Amino acid sequence: MEQQKLDVYVKGSWLRKMVKESSSQFAAIQVISAITFTITIAFFVILLGIFVNGRIRKFLVSEDFIPIQSMPVSGIELSGNGFRDFGDWIAPRRLWHTMSDQELLWRASMVPHIKDYPYNRTPKVAFMFLTRTMLPLAPLWELFFKGHQGLYSIYLHTSYESIDEPVESSVFYQRRIPSKPVEWGRATMVDAERRLLANALLDFSNERFILLSESCIPLFNFSTIYDYLIKSKHSFVGSFDDPRKVGRGRYNKRMAPAIQLSDWRKGNQWFELNRDLGIAVVSDEAFYPVLRDHCRPPCYMDEHYLPTLVVKIGKDLNSNRSITWVDWSKPGSHPTTFGRKDVSERFMSRVRDQSDCIYNNVPGSYCFLFARKFHPNTLEPLLKIAPVLFGFNKQ
Ligand SMILES: *[C@@H]1O[C@H](CO)[C@@H](O)[C@H](O)[C@H]1NC(C)=O
Ligand SMILES: *[C@@H]1O[C@H](CO)[C@@H](O)[C@H](O)[C@H]1NC(C)=O
Repeated sequence: MEQQKLDVYVKGSWLRKMVKESSSQFAAIQVISAITFTITIAFFVILLGIFVNGRIRKFLVSEDFIPIQSMPVSGIELSGNGFRDFGDWIAPRRLWHTMSDQELLWRASMVPHIKDYPYNRTPKVAFMFLTRTMLPLAPLWELFFKGHQGLYSIYLHTSYESIDEPVESSVFYQRRIPSKPVEWGRATMVDAERRLLANALLDFSNERFILLSESCIPLFNFSTIYDYLIKSKHSFVGSFDDPRKVGRGRYNKRMAPAIQLSDWRKGNQWFELNRDLGIAVVSDEAFYPVLRDHCRPPCYMDEHYLPTLVVKIGKDLNSNRSITWVDWSKPGSHPTTFGRKDVSERFMSRVRDQSDCIYNNVPGSYCFLFARKFHPNTLEPLLKIAPVLFGFNKQ
């Protein structure tokens, strides 16, 4: 019994001694690892410091900035120093962007609520070309635009992807917008028109928006066309009620109640819109889906969408007539295409001098500013008569 007690005591004191020893050892290990840890962290901090310092220097002095600078931020380019200046908000510096149609339309639908522009705004006319390839009549247009920088913007929607960029001195240089394939008479045609409008609306100085094709030509010189459009109280969207099968006959009862038969209109797709109507067109969510779903061949969306939409959103803003002349006098479903032999001063004067229309509520002196359809082989005779007809030689 005594022996046992003694044993336990001895064991106990030995145990205590052990615990005492090991705890002082443990403390030493703790101290050592804390020191090691601190040194390691300090080492990393120093390394990081050297690295960051190097990067900042590189950032400030080298061209490291360039990839960031040329990266579009939702269609808005950063200016040279990487900061956005006011110019970036007035108009994108480059037309090409990576926005989807949905993003683009949303962005283009924005309207400033302060009425006075905080910059000296000269209204511009946006010439929007809906084409397959580069314009075959481009040299005529080059002459037309020459000397009028600052009063126009050009936009090209081309259905083919691989198109050679024109030379840098051309008015068409880098004026293509991101485009998608277009099928005649289908919703994709209207999509392309709205895509053009939306891109052109991003420039706050664009005031009038005209849709043109590759076979269109101007009938007057730039100043005459600019004044006519800028001073017009109305837009020029051909819009009429056609009682025939090819008009009212294309109306579908399923379009009601959004669109009634009394709203249904037809017209030439080559429109001209002012800024307010343009914004209303890209912002339209009420009528576009109705026509997309219920106007399918033999109902052609591009012949009905805008003519009907303007009745719904801006009746009083429209002249109801097109500004682009086309010849439907020959039978068939296509207008006349004019060729080399048709082009003469006399013929052009006849087209220009039509004046049985209303302009700003009074009988007009001209009714048409553009004409179609002109075959690429008309370029040569057109260039020949251009000086006489348009006064290009006076510029
Ligand atoms: C255009 O047509 C609409 C009806 O569709 C009419 O209300 C408007 O007054 C017309 N505009 C002009 C300038 O005649
Ligand atoms: C433009 O055409 C108009 C007539 O349409 C003419 O009076 C004017 O002089 C022409 N301008 C130039 C710069 O040639």
